[in-house]
Amino acid sequence: MLFISLDPHAEPLADYLGDFRFYLDFYTNQSPHGLEVRGPQRWRINANWKIGAENFAGDMYHTPHTHTSVVEIGLFREPKAQKRKDGATYWAGKGGGTTYKLPPGTFAERMRYVGYPDEMIARAEQVWTREQQRVVGEDGFMVSAASCFPNLSFVHNWPKVEDGHDVLPFISIRQWQPISHNQTEVCSWFAVDAAAPAEFKQKSYRAYLMCFGSTGMFEQDDVENWVSLTNTAGGTMARRLLLNSRMGLLADDRPVVDPLPAEAFHGPGYAQVGYNEHNQRALLRLWADHLETT
Ligand SMILES: [Fe+2]
Repeated sequence: MLFISLDPHAEPLADYLGDFRFYLDFYTNQSPHGLEVRGPQRWRINANWKIGAENFAGDMYHTPHTHTSVVEIGLFREPKAQKRKDGATYWAGKGGGTTYKLPPGTFAERMRYVGYPDEMIARAEQVWTREQQRVVGEDGFMVSAASCFPNLSFVHNWPKVEDGHDVLPFISIRQWQPISHNQTEVCSWFAVDAAAPAEFKQKSYRAYLMCFGSTGMFEQDDVENWVSLTNTAGGTMARRLLLNSRMGLLADDRPVVDPLPAEAFHGPGYAQVGYNEHNQRALLRLWADHLETT
């Protein structure tokens, strides 16, 4: 991945990413053999770019409703609202994301649960730090969607690609490139461990195409929401009223659910379970700070 800044005074990338680097590895560093990438698919949507970034950063509560049809056809095994509520959302430095709570088991058993073959699990063990492995193996959380400020997102999911077969994971990297206030060019890449077995690569690519990208069922559900949100945000009522974005906060601004203690979540930053909008607020706060200083 190449990150380019036109600012000669830009801070080093590692400093910019901060603690989010820890989570980036789950998507982009699964093996000593590097990443194989396909794409991008590019298309335009009539939505503001921040809505995609926000959605991937922390919107776990839209899944049971927005993606009901994907669950009904049996593509997705983790449909229950409770599953999303039990997963932790985390925010660390310039990014954050959502996770799913895994059933009890060891690191290897939990990686197998989402569909990784043993040889890929062994490679992940070679490159992930002990703390990264503990998030999966001890805390029992598997990363799902994430966003890095401002407009880079990731998704890791494990649908059922064939009837009667187990789930299989895929990774997508995406960029929300603003065209205007109400139009965004989406770039969507498929990513996989370069050393993965050929059959895994083929099935994982298929899983990605069924779920995300221009043909993806999750993608089409999501964009329906985002276009509606963008239209509504431009209306007279939206100009007159404040948007209530306080999910997960009590009246005195304390969180409804306390952040997970360090022994329950071994990643950096802060994490909590339960429905909330902590990450959406964190992302928009960075955007507001950016506007103020430029
Ligand atoms: Fe979605």
